[in-house]
Amino acid sequence: MNKNRFPSLFQTGPQKIFFFFLLMQCQGLGWAQTPQMSENNSCLLCHADMQEDMKGSIHAQQGIFCNRCHGGDPAQPTKELAKAPGTGYIGSPNKQQIAEMCGTCHANVEVMNFYGIRTDQLAQYKTSMHGKKLFEGDTNVAVCSDCHGEHDILPVGDPGSSVYPLNIPKTCNRCHGNEKLMSQYKLPADIFKTYQHSVHGKALLEEKDLSAASCISCHGYHGAVPPGARDVGTTCGKCHMNEKKYFLESVHAGISAQGKFSECISCHGNHGVQPASKALYDQACVRCHSADTPEAKRGGEIHQMLDEAEEKLRSATILVKQASIEGFFVEPEMAALEAAKTNVIAMAPLQHTLLPERISELHKKVVSAAADIARSIHQKQQFLRWRKLSLIPMWVFIAMMISTLWIKYRQLHSRSREKQDEKKKRS
Ligand code: HEC
Ligand code: HEC
Ligand code: HEC
Ligand code: HEC
Ligand code: HEC
Ligand code: HEC
Ligand code: HEC
Ligand code: HEC
Ligand code: HEC
Repeated sequence: MNKNRFPSLFQTGPQKIFFFFLLMQCQGLGWAQTPQMSENNSCLLCHADMQEDMKGSIHAQQGIFCNRCHGGDPAQPTKELAKAPGTGYIGSPNKQQIAEMCGTCHANVEVMNFYGIRTDQLAQYKTSMHGKKLFEGDTNVAVCSDCHGEHDILPVGDPGSSVYPLNIPKTCNRCHGNEKLMSQYKLPADIFKTYQHSVHGKALLEEKDLSAASCISCHGYHGAVPPGARDVGTTCGKCHMNEKKYFLESVHAGISAQGKFSECISCHGNHGVQPASKALYDQACVRCHSADTPEAKRGGEIHQMLDEAEEKLRSATILVKQASIEGFFVEPEMAALEAAKTNVIAMAPLQHTLLPERISELHKKVVSAAADIARSIHQKQQFLRWRKLSLIPMWVFIAMMISTLWIKYRQLHSRSREKQDEKKKRS
């Protein structure tokens, strides 16, 4: 899974090799005196277990070892000399030191340019809730190594990485599911459980649908999107663009801006978003508007239009199916049915405008399409019945003809018999 980068590095053309050697020469960055995983690296002699942890990591692949993070001089044979003052040895770093230490490379454009990865993680992190709190002295919050690990860090796209999309909810849950820790902050500890059963959680964790929202899609990771959780509701529109667009036409858009309404989550919730259902009209509106107000009635009106359109589509579908089984040619009705279905589907995002006049445009189209389909099928059935009826006189005529011929035949037959009998008698 962890491809060794060196062979490919040397195959990727002279430009990269040049930069590579430039980097190796760069004393300030410590590359020149960094021994590879080898016997003359004294850290490894005494810390074989850590070496084992690091073996598959992206840093080990890049020849980054102990002293690059912990300081010390790996060329010295004894512990005392290796960690003597002046070697920069810091021991096991505390959390604030970790952020700065990862930043020595990851916030350094010169080092990172070669790899083409961003260098804003530390700066972003400092703007997040976690980062702000850490530098205010709270060491319970997440620092780089809490999300990424320290020795066994893999590329973020590796399915084994702790920040691979499928693993993110569990990584966050290590702290956010810890009741004792979260109660100190009056934060809920059941977010993962709620999320797991949501439409997003099921899509991500059960169906492995990487496009579904995980914790970081809504919250961000280095710069937890808006530091205030309240504004996070606005992130839904990143993925649900139509719903967002129509929501902005609704009466609630204005009051959202004033902070009286939380965009999408006032109706859908956040961690426990369930599959969309019209039942929301019965549940959500009455949370803020009592049942007999004009607002709630408007909800009822829209609900009814959605119901009716669906019902009309359903009965038209049954009609067309039945006609097809009876052997009618229903291609044109099928096409009309598809168009009506598209309109019904389009009503679901459009209803976010909460404007009955907008929604009724589609509603009318569906109702009239359903009526057209019913009329056309009815006409076809009528025509068949008429054709069947029109055949009756013909069958009667044919029957008469047959019986007349039969009678004629019998007559001729019996006459020829009589003639033969007479001949016999004569002879
Ligand atoms: C001769 C053996 C030896 C060598 C060489 C050695 N260490 Fe250690 N190291 C130890 C032992 C034993 C401990 C645990 C006891 C202690 O804290 O002193 C330790 C502890 C550590 C710790 C944890 C310190 C803490 O505060 O918990 C770090 C980090 C560390 N070593 C890094 C290094 C690095 C980096 C090098 C190479 C530059 C290195 N060691 C070289 C033996 C060694
Ligand atoms: C990419 C940076 C990085 C590299 C490279 C690295 N470490 Fe660490 N190491 C850390 C961080 C960060 C911690 C602190 C973990 C914590 O306390 O949460 C740590 C903790 C430790 C500890 C003490 C905690 C423990 O788990 O017992 C030891 C010992 C240690 N490292 C040794 C080493 C040795 C030996 C190497 C080289 C084989 C090495 N480290 C390479 C970042 C690094
Ligand atoms: C709250 C968890 C969390 C913390 C804290 C965190 N990261 Fe990340 N980091 C992530 C996630 C999640 C991704 C992957 C996002 C993705 O899928 O693209 C990531 C991606 C990265 C990447 C890959 C490039 C990129 O920017 O996407 C680097 C490098 C990185 N982090 C370094 C750091 C450093 C350095 C720190 C500390 C200053 C840090 N991270 C702190 C969660 C975290
Ligand atoms: C000595 C410099 C250095 C230090 C210190 C360092 N890194 Fe890295 N890191 C690198 C390099 C180089 C890469 C490889 C980039 C690549 O191959 O795309 C890398 C890769 C990564 C990646 C994978 C990025 C990706 O695109 O998938 C993550 C995550 C990461 N480092 C996190 C950390 C964390 C967390 C720390 C601190 C505990 C840290 N690094 C400390 C140099 C460093
Ligand atoms: C090492 C533990 C730890 C990890 C891992 C962690 N967090 Fe946190 N997080 C905390 C703590 C502690 C707080 C409380 C900070 C406060 O309120 O002062 C917090 C606060 C937050 C908040 C702000 C809540 C508020 O008060 O409004 C969000 C959002 C958040 N974390 C999201 C995440 C996400 C997303 C992840 C995973 C990518 C994650 N956290 C990983 C410990 C962690
Ligand atoms: C679909 C978007 C979305 C996803 C996915 C999501 N969150 Fe949230 N989260 C929100 C919103 C929106 C809020 C703000 C709720 C409010 O203002 O009432 C929030 C609030 C929070 C808070 C603050 C406490 C609270 O409940 O108000 C924490 C902590 C948090 N989320 C962590 C997580 C973690 C951990 C995950 C992953 C297991 C996660 N979130 C997944 C949207 C999301
Ligand atoms: C006033 C309540 C309300 C608000 C606010 C709201 N929704 Fe909805 N949403 C609904 C209802 C009710 C349905 C179900 C409609 C249906 O099934 O016909 C729905 C359906 C959906 C669907 C499924 C639509 C489809 O095409 O199948 C998505 C996705 C959605 N909403 C996302 C959002 C987003 C994103 C926001 C914020 C921009 C938002 N909603 C704001 C009530 C609301
Ligand atoms: C990273 C993209 C992303 C973000 C951010 C996101 N969603 Fe979703 N959402 C999806 C995907 C993908 C699905 C489809 C999941 C499935 O059913 O397979 C979905 C499904 C839904 C559904 C069900 C639609 C249906 O047809 O039944 C609703 C409702 C919904 N999201 C609301 C929200 C709300 C509210 C937010 C913000 C709090 C949000 N989403 C944030 C990607 C996202
Ligand atoms: C989170 C609370 C909340 C929910 C849920 C909610 N609304 Fe509202 N709604 C408000 C507030 C607040 C106002 C502004 C009232 C005012 O300005 O007097 C408002 C205003 C309205 C108005 C405009 C009234 C006017 O006089 O212009 C209509 C119509 C409306 N809502 C319909 C709905 C419908 C339909 C639903 C359910 C699909 C719904 N609302 C759900 C809080 C909510």
